[in-house]
Amino acid sequence: MKFVQVGVGGFGRHWVNILKDTGGVEVVGMVDVNEAALEQACQASGRGRDICFHTLEEALSKVEADAVLCSTPPAVHEHDVVTALKAGHHVISEKPMSDSMPACKRMLKAAVATGRTYCVSQNYRYSPPMATLAEVVRSGRLGPVGQVKLDFFMGVDFGGGFRHDMEYPLVIDMSIHHFDLVRFVTGLNPVSVRGAAWNPPWSNYKGDCSSTALFEMDNGARVLYNASWCAKGQFSDWNGNWQIECEKGTLVYQRGEIKLLNVPQLYKVESEEVVRHITLPWTGQHFVLHDFMAAVSEGRRPRTDVFDNIHSVGMVFATVAAMRSGRTASVLDAETRRLVAKAGG
Ligand SMILES: NC(=O)c1ccc[n+]([C@@H]2O[C@H](COP(=O)([O-])OP(=O)(O)OC[C@H]3O[C@@H](n4cnc5c(N)ncnc54)[C@H](O)[C@@H]3O)[C@@H](O)[C@H]2O)c1
Repeated sequence: MKFVQVGVGGFGRHWVNILKDTGGVEVVGMVDVNEAALEQACQASGRGRDICFHTLEEALSKVEADAVLCSTPPAVHEHDVVTALKAGHHVISEKPMSDSMPACKRMLKAAVATGRTYCVSQNYRYSPPMATLAEVVRSGRLGPVGQVKLDFFMGVDFGGGFRHDMEYPLVIDMSIHHFDLVRFVTGLNPVSVRGAAWNPPWSNYKGDCSSTALFEMDNGARVLYNASWCAKGQFSDWNGNWQIECEKGTLVYQRGEIKLLNVPQLYKVESEEVVRHITLPWTGQHFVLHDFMAAVSEGRRPRTDVFDNIHSVGMVFATVAAMRSGRTASVLDAETRRLVAKAGG
């Protein structure tokens, strides 16, 4: 499959290496507004300057491509994704879909109108511990999910860049991973959310960098999410700490270890076990890329295509709306739900 990659600096460098190392991939164009980023990408990929461009439009008019991989900042995604879809290309884009819900809806509509595959890279799903949590919960062994607590605490300094100027950097750029994991692990979709956000005095972000959100899921279960990107030393890992409570027991995840508590009747713990991680054929972005290419060639939807991802990004912007208003916010509006239902998402 022939790819044009737009945004080859920052995290895009990681994608440059993944595309280079993946069989069946040919990179025919690299786009960035930053010369140094293009130069470094050429060195890393072993490709010449002849495949480098400063705009996506220029690249798409000069090279023959099947797909576009978008790893620019969130505010740029709408332009890149819609341009690529309208030019007839399939798309993989970095998360979050965009930096606002109206933009995400326009991107969803572009996917519907063009019929092209549009996949959002939710690489956190494809780590052995998160895939294991999902497998145990979805096996039904513990019965239905009733309540979940997910705590993410890290102190992260990006040294500037788009995150430092965003209004809600944690929720928009990071919690999208956790919200998508909540759906993936529980197999439930969200209905509504209440939330609050704040910025501790020492935070080096302009926007609120700590938050709490309470989701109601479509089976009535509640998910309590507490998070901070300016935590002071007591850190979780990037997946966060999980407590998933089901009718017949609880799964606890912390720093790579999964513990299962068997509680078949009321509150008495009958046994406790450490759950071994399942193995995956690929992890992270490699999984996303293989799934995307297989889906395009088999004419099926990739696992995290736009019709799935709109529920996850909907959680992000409903949380933002709830934080702004102090009220409960619905995750998807009626028009979006109709569009997604029509597409079978
Ligand atoms: N999945 C993950 O684990 C993960 C980790 C980090 C970042 N990301 C995502 O990757 C995306 C990029 O984040 P980043 O940290 O690399 O940002 P960044 O700002 O460090 O890098 C973005 C790159 O895009 C280029 N760029 C900006 N505007 C452009 C435009 N209009 N046209 C072409 N190129 C342009 C920049 O010059 C830069 O090279 C974001 O959506 C972010 O959320 C994902």
